[in-house]
Amino acid sequence: MLSYQHQYHAGNHADVLKHWLLLECLAHLQKKDKPFDYIDTHAGGGLYRLDSEAARKTGEASEGVLKLPWDSLPELQDYRASVADDLNRKCYPGSPLLVSRRLRPGDRGWFFEMHPATVRDLEKHCGKPKSCRVKREDGFAGLTALLPTASRRALVLIDPSYEVESDYRSVVSAVAAALKKMPQTQILLWYPVVSRERVNTLEKDIIKAGLRNSHLFEISIDDDAGEGMTASGLIAINPPWTTPERFKSLAPGLSAAMARDGKPRWRYQVLVPE
Ligand SMILES: C[S@@+](CC[C@H](N)C(=O)[O-])C[C@H]1O[C@@H](n2cnc3c(N)ncnc32)[C@H](O)[C@@H]1O
Repeated sequence: MLSYQHQYHAGNHADVLKHWLLLECLAHLQKKDKPFDYIDTHAGGGLYRLDSEAARKTGEASEGVLKLPWDSLPELQDYRASVADDLNRKCYPGSPLLVSRRLRPGDRGWFFEMHPATVRDLEKHCGKPKSCRVKREDGFAGLTALLPTASRRALVLIDPSYEVESDYRSVVSAVAAALKKMPQTQILLWYPVVSRERVNTLEKDIIKAGLRNSHLFEISIDDDAGEGMTASGLIAINPPWTTPERFKSLAPGLSAAMARDGKPRWRYQVLVPE
């Protein structure tokens, strides 16, 4: 049962936060010459047209990336540079493309995706570089199988669509299993806020599992009683030490810019200290 298609949502408020944080982690890893592995457990198609019927139907990019006051948010500089050419062509790049473009000789990219048509898009947009592998396999199982990597340095994005409620539990087990095999892995776990209760449970589960150095970054575009996905966030394990301060400086302006009523709403919390 795979009905989720990211082309309806590409460039929305959740993508802005997720891809900003992903690029922060990537830039930090690339400060060292040593190669690393990037693992995208739920990769999507890699590149999306913003003028497609699907994108125009929801108009989500207009409430996200197309609404950003770039000049007043200097923390977005790297993200802006990474999406500008695509936006000029009425496209938006997904996580595997954003990262694959930046891999250096020796770095590796592993992209898991299950939807047959999406796998074809992913192969077309991100499957060509020798450093990258597209895998039509379950991303949770694929992650555990890949760790520990020979590089001993890895950045992991776990970005499921949460179509099945069990995903909320699967993500915690996947993160715990990954950290057991390679404790220094940097992990970004995305979550939507459609039901605040589910997110509260997810946070409690992370705390209960004792996943050390876990930080929560969240941006809302409405209060929790609003319609649909009112917020989204990432639980980052072992993020760069600079990221919390940069997020705190970015979040008020970014959340206000994307909010339905222009009000800033955001959250940063240490879930489990180092
Ligand atoms: C939210 S989208 C990914 C977006 C992408 N990470 C980005 O930021 O551009 C989630 C994707 O996961 C895929 N998917 C669903 N179940 C999966 C599984 N068990 N393993 C790998 N991919 C899966 C869906 O087909 C969908 O394309």
